[in-house]
Amino acid sequence: MSAERICTTAELETNKAFRVVLEKTAIVVVKDSTGAVHAIGDTCTHGDISLAEGFVEDEDIECWAHGSKFSLATGMPLNLPAYEPVPVFAVTVDADGVVYIDPHTTLAV
Ligand code: FES
Repeated sequence: MSAERICTTAELETNKAFRVVLEKTAIVVVKDSTGAVHAIGDTCTHGDISLAEGFVEDEDIECWAHGSKFSLATGMPLNLPAYEPVPVFAVTVDADGVVYIDPHTTLAV
């Protein structure tokens, strides 16, 4: 299956995490302060915690449990205790501002 329609960019609050589940894959969606929309795996690689419940700051999202931050662009952890990345999913925004995410396409970082 291909990308799924999620919402419009106008419906996304800047720097606020939004959780969606696409075909059993939990994804956290964030529109950053530049207006770019990111989609990364929602489950922290240190524990079974939803990153959507964490804190968005600049280009990162912080897990509330133990403080690991993940890059919204690359999925890479920026500090311990997490040391494995979360996946980054392909996001497409069309001319009308409609956001599509493909849960099957992860981007190489
Ligand atoms: S569960 Fe996320 S940093 Fe520990």
